[in-house]
Amino acid sequence: MPREIITIQTGQCGNQIGNEFWSHLCAEHGICADGTLEEYATEGVDRKDVFFYQADDDHYIPRTILLDLEPRVINNILQSRYANLYNPENIYTTEQGSGAGNNWANGYSQGEKIWEDILDIVDRETENSDSLEGFSLLHSIAGGTGSGLGSFILERMSDRYEKKLLQTYSVFPNNEDTSDVVVQPYNSLLTLRRLTENADCVTVLDNAALNRIVSDRLHIQNADFVQTNQLVSSVMTSSTITLRYPSYMNNDLSSLIAPLIPVPTCHYLMTAYTPFTSDKVEKAKAIRKTTVLDVMRRLLQSKNKMVSAVSTKKNCYISILNIIQGEADPTEVHKSLLRIRERCAGQMIPWGPASIQVALSKKSPYVQTSHRVSGLMIANHTSIASLFKRTLDQYDRLRKRNAFLDMYKREPIFSDGLEEFDDSRLYV
Ligand code: GTP
Repeated sequence: MPREIITIQTGQCGNQIGNEFWSHLCAEHGICADGTLEEYATEGVDRKDVFFYQADDDHYIPRTILLDLEPRVINNILQSRYANLYNPENIYTTEQGSGAGNNWANGYSQGEKIWEDILDIVDRETENSDSLEGFSLLHSIAGGTGSGLGSFILERMSDRYEKKLLQTYSVFPNNEDTSDVVVQPYNSLLTLRRLTENADCVTVLDNAALNRIVSDRLHIQNADFVQTNQLVSSVMTSSTITLRYPSYMNNDLSSLIAPLIPVPTCHYLMTAYTPFTSDKVEKAKAIRKTTVLDVMRRLLQSKNKMVSAVSTKKNCYISILNIIQGEADPTEVHKSLLRIRERCAGQMIPWGPASIQVALSKKSPYVQTSHRVSGLMIANHTSIASLFKRTLDQYDRLRKRNAFLDMYKREPIFSDGLEEFDDSRLYV
């Protein structure tokens, strides 16, 4: 029986990375942009039903809900080649809306007003699955909708679907980008509280690191979201490949995640991916030798990590899961794992066993790649705290000046004072 996962994509960032994810999933399962199956994919051994279900005419529909407080981004998706992929009943956008204006409190208040409508969609989608494993929220923590509405959804969902896994892919802002919105530290802090309190697992995707990878590794200057979102979707598809192309282990999300999270609140995970290649950029076409050991070594290098956390000698890995895709012989994997364990010996927590796991997976037969093996590392590493520290420092600087607080005070959650900020600060 499939362990289905329902995706909830909110705000500009959530919907844009969501659309990229679904186009990538379709390619890996031989599904066309309108949900029909490619002729060459009818005999597949994959599990499409974790992320898709079939309509009466057998075409595939993603188990996803698209939410936004302004119509622009979703309208763009509905004008793209994927216009007919999504279930129109699962799209909720306020037609006249103008978003949440980069204001977490506004997104949160609007959440309260539209929750019944959203819940109708979520409940219907839930009833549509046989053995639901959980939900996956895609959003940015820094704007107004993905952060505020996203926070509201996390609070309500953890209450209503207490027994289901609540996972997020959370995009952190690029703190080096001065053109980004000035109130991002406020929004980020308020969202981080909900991610800590209400989510079971947060995959941190950091725009600073994503932009660095696009420019240094893919040699694309002035990267836009198209490229960063392709990286994000590679992380998302690789981290779910063992569920979609199952073998005898790691066939559900809980069994993948549980060994990575030693205690419930310590659930912020970072990722690394290799090799980065692009068919469109000459310098990034180069094919390297990709043995399992090469791939595992590269996954430990900072330049391949999707977070820009500052690591000192005191920081260490709590746990590591490497998902290796491609032609890998189990003996080669075993030997490589022993070498990597030796290499990581001084970098693991001293208070527990060196938890380095490997999941081997088939590649999709429908997507041609030039490399033999690719890898994704999902790791719990103590340096993630430096990302929170950075947000806190920025928050403290803004708050000291009482800057830009008026727009927050106008919303109900702050009508009696600014305690919500002070409380949230304690969680980060
Ligand atoms: P409002 O615009 O206030 O309604 O909220 P929103 O949630 O729609 O805002 P948005 O998702 O644009 O969040 C802003 C943050 O997300 C900024 O840090 C942006 O750099 C980042 N962001 C926006 N779109 C994308 C995207 O497609 N990919 C990535 N990686 N980051 C994005």
